[in-house]
This record gives sequence, structure tokens and C-alpha cells, in this order.
Amino acid sequence: MPVPKPNLYPDFNIIRLSHVCLNVRNLIASKIFYTDILGLQVTDESDTHVYLRAMEERGHHCMILQKSDRPGTVEVIGFKTFDEDDLDKAETYFQSKGRPTRWIERPYQGRTVLTSDNMGIPLEFYHKMNRLEPIHQKYMLYRGVKPLRIDHFNCFTPNVDESVAFYSDFGFRVTEYTEDKESKRLWAAWIHRKGGVHDMAFTNGTGPRMHHVAFWVPSPLNIIDLLDLMATTGYVNNIERGPGRHGISNAFFLYIIDPDGHRIEIYCSDYQTVDPDLEPIKWDLHDPQRQTLWGAAAPESWFKHGTTFVGAETKDSTIKASPKTQINVGIDPELLTIGLTIAGYHIEKGARKFADYSKAMIDDLGESVRPYLRTLYEAVRFYPGFDNEGMSTPDEIDALLKGNQDVGKQQLGTDGNRETISTPSEQSSGVETGDVAVLGRVERVGDKIVDSGSDQSGRRNIQPEQTVLSKDLRDGVSDNLVGGRGDDREGNNDVGDRGADGPVIAP
Ligand SMILES: [Fe+2]
Repeated sequence: MPVPKPNLYPDFNIIRLSHVCLNVRNLIASKIFYTDILGLQVTDESDTHVYLRAMEERGHHCMILQKSDRPGTVEVIGFKTFDEDDLDKAETYFQSKGRPTRWIERPYQGRTVLTSDNMGIPLEFYHKMNRLEPIHQKYMLYRGVKPLRIDHFNCFTPNVDESVAFYSDFGFRVTEYTEDKESKRLWAAWIHRKGGVHDMAFTNGTGPRMHHVAFWVPSPLNIIDLLDLMATTGYVNNIERGPGRHGISNAFFLYIIDPDGHRIEIYCSDYQTVDPDLEPIKWDLHDPQRQTLWGAAAPESWFKHGTTFVGAETKDSTIKASPKTQINVGIDPELLTIGLTIAGYHIEKGARKFADYSKAMIDDLGESVRPYLRTLYEAVRFYPGFDNEGMSTPDEIDALLKGNQDVGKQQLGTDGNRETISTPSEQSSGVETGDVAVLGRVERVGDKIVDSGSDQSGRRNIQPEQTVLSKDLRDGVSDNLVGGRGDDREGNNDVGDRGADGPVIAP
């Protein structure tokens, strides 16, 4: 489906995105993250809500943190209209599209109409919001990344064509897009009202889900400062991707994860798009420079993790194409996390020598684990508190891989940089269906790795259809291998809807 022609005279007039309400578990932890680390300013707070604005903003809030029993979900996203009449026109418009509408009370906002888009994303429109004094020249207030304003939302949708067509009809204009060559369907699109590259973007995937909320900062140096700050204040695991420069939008970026799994982008230096006849820029889905101009692919988590909207049911996308990810340039996070769990299991169960362990791992995970056998083995060796007695030494492994040493009647050859087992182990016990072992809080039941929950008393709370890593083990992965992507600051693993994607890819 081609990019829709812009509707320059929509039924009602939106001027920009305005705010988002995020549901959080621990209001204090979230407030610390968004104020001390990001640098947003508190404009009001209670036992249940914290209202925040960025440094250039005159409106009362661009973000509302809401204490909730559904943390890691998005309550609503908000847009500002050009005038009051636009609110009534918006109500009529959305009703004509078959969408539910109702007028709601939102503190510090005037009349506000709540509705939803064609995928179920909850939207609210207002014109008046309490105005606050300018603070953009009160430099003593600047903290963290020095955020100037909220810039855009990016959402997963199961049908980018339908989402873009829906928003185009009420005035959003496409600035850049990615198309699936085979189906000619949109894979992603960036659409705007305010004259930047986007107020809203849609990305192909299970949706609707929020991919990220972005804040504009003065310069790339602020992003470097934020990285230094996060790395030295206990938030290193919350750094997901970047810094870098996008091909699409030409913006400098960083992606971080908040304590509840909400992804935040720090963003600057995109370009002006106010011309009504601006031609959209088309990108190839498999061009790595569209993601990052410097060529580095995004991690797998970036394409899979998102947070659900309250009241919106998600659907899977029907587009099967997917961009290249970091699996080609490093260790795939899914394989890594699952692999470490299974490696620990086999070594603890008795396959302590590298050859025995290698055979067991390949039996379990297949040939794709070969390049990572040694990395996983060493990660288990240095896992805090793990008894590594009897494990092959690095020298023994070196010798084994070179084929120069006979270790327990087993020899490993080499296939380029990949280890190849040439003789099966006589010692390897294998794993039988129904077998149960425990490593930390992670259990293996048959051919599944499951999380037994915090209760150490027995084999309960088993979720056979999910692969979930324990907090401790994931910390081990982070500490020993990838230096990041652990749990949130409170040790909560069940943020957002990561389970819907199968294996947890941290945050
Ligand atoms: Fe973005």
C-alpha cells in the first residue's frame, strides 16, 4: 500500500503531541529515575501521581507517573488541539469512525475528550492546560540529560498501513518510511503535525504497544553526560541501545529503560518538515544505516520489547519480514540468556568437563549454540557462588580446541572460530524428559526451563509455556557477558509484557 497523500485540511486541527501517562509500580523509584537521572521537573505530586515537565515546556505536564497495579502499561497518550472547537470536531470525527468517545476530567487540563485509534491506542485531546512560568533560562534547575521537551511517541502496530492511513486522515503527514520489498506494505513510518520528523511513529510488530517515548535534548553531549551518570549511579543495566545517529530522521539517539520497562529515547537534531509538499523519504528494510547511520544494528530487544496500552488487545503482525539485528554482530540476547541457564544446568548436573558440557549443550540447543559454547561455559564458571570444582581449565579448553590434547577420550576440533565436537563423550549423561534440576530459582522440567517463583519450598508456580530467567541468573549474564540489561532497580522481572514475546529479553 503506498504512503497516503497528506490531508492538508483535516476535520480538526492537532498542533502537536503533548503528554503520556505511564503506569508504574513504585512512584518513588520512578520519580527518582525521571527527575534525578533524566532531569524532568516536578510540577505536582501526590501519593498516587507525579506530574512532570521538561525545561522548555510551559504546559503543566508532559508526563504523568501513575501508581498502578498494572505497572509497565501505558494509560493514555495526549495531543493538544489548535483551539477549543477542535475538541468538539474531534469528538464528532472519532464517532464517525466508530470509535468510542467520552469527556473526562484530567487535572490541570481543560475540556478533554478521550477516544482511541483504530488499533485501540487510548488517545486524549485537549486545548487548554495550566500554564507555568518559563524555566528554560533557570540554569540552576537543569539536571540529568537536560530534557527540553517531549518529542514523539513510537508504537508497535500489527498493521502499519492501516495505522498510517488512520492518522493521515486527520492531518498527520509522513516524513520517512520503510517498506517491505516483497509485500510492498509499510514496515514502519514516521508521521508529524508539529513540523519535525515525527510526533508519532509506527513500527511493525505485535501491537498496539508503546515502543518508546522520546525527549528532545540540547546536544549529543547531553546524551554522553547521561550515559556517564547512569553508569555510575546504578542504572547501567537500564541502557539498552546507543548512543548513535539514526539514518531515519538523522537524529542522535540513546534508548534507556525505566524501572517499569517503559522505553525512553533521548533524541536531538532532526530536521524541519513544515513544507506541506515535503516528499517522504523511503528506506530499505535491510539497510543497516536506516537504523544507525554508523552501521551498528539494533539489538533484538529493540524490535521485540514494548509496553501495552490499558484496554487495548494486541495482535501479531502478518508481515514476516524483519530487519537484521545484532544477532549477526554479537551474541543474540535470547540465545545468550537461555543458553546460560541451560549451561549452568548441565554443568551443575555433572557435565563439568568442557567436552561433556559441549555435547550436552548441542544436544539441547542444536548447532547454533556452537559459537557460544566457550563464552557460556566461562560465564557459568565465574557466576557468583557457583562451585566450579572439576571444570576444565582455560588451558585445557585451549588445548582441546586445538586438538592437541586428549581429555577423557574426547577431542574437539576447530571449524574456523567455531568449536566442533569430533568424538562424543562417554561420560555425558544427557537429559531425560521429566528430569528436574534447580539452579537458583530456575528449574528445568522436561525440555523447558521455568521460573519457580520466589517460593523455595517446592516445584510450584511452574509456567511450562514460558522461558523465564531468574533475577540472579540474569544479573549473572549481565555482569559477566554483556554488561547490561538486568532487572529493574527493585529487582522486578515481570515488567511490561515481555512474556508475550517468549523468552525475556531484558530490560
Ligand atoms: Fe524515536
